[in-house]
Amino acid sequence: MKKIGIYYGSSTGTCAEIARKIAAALGVAPADVHDVSDLTAASAAGYEVLLLGSSTWGDGELQDDWYDALPKLREAGLRGKMVGLFGCGDSGSYPDTFCNAIGLLYDGLKETGCSFVGGGVETDGYDFSASSAAADGKFVGLALDDINESGRTDERIARWAELLKAQGAV
Ligand SMILES: Cc1cc2nc3c(=O)[nH]c(=O)nc-3n(C[C@H](O)[C@H](O)[C@H](O)COP(=O)(O)O)c2cc1C
Repeated sequence: MKKIGIYYGSSTGTCAEIARKIAAALGVAPADVHDVSDLTAASAAGYEVLLLGSSTWGDGELQDDWYDALPKLREAGLRGKMVGLFGCGDSGSYPDTFCNAIGLLYDGLKETGCSFVGGGVETDGYDFSASSAAADGKFVGLALDDINESGRTDERIARWAELLKAQGAV
């Protein structure tokens, strides 16, 4: 199995819980699941695969802790690493910026030379108007809405875990 590190940014615990569920689905040890406020370039460099999660706040913004962490990750040098993105939002209250943070992570890391995994998640079955994480009917990572669609979270995570396995990221 590849060395997988999961980093999440979470203000009220939802994305943290999602990160733990993703870890369980992939068999990643709890010690490799980190709050992104603890991220250092050295700790991230030790992983072959990074799964990065953020909830969306404000008007479609990253969870606060990511603002310090993103530059550190770019510094770490992601060339050759696999990167998968996930996040959570609220499509009922914020339908025009649903899970934008996933798109912001993607944009913030696309020049690093990493290879993204876990993309191409169908937007069918979600109920939102716009998201910077989606183009042509697909999300660039795993989008979850634990506020309105909590009943679908486990099934969406299980499907994403299968996708990551099929892409050789596990
Ligand atoms: C003030 C505020 C702004 C928010 N803005 C967005 C948004 O723009 N897009 C979105 O999808 N969700 C938005 N949300 C919903 C959060 O992303 C959602 O509650 C999420 O589950 C929080 O996860 P966390 O506890 O891991 O931080 C917002 C929530 C609040 C309270």
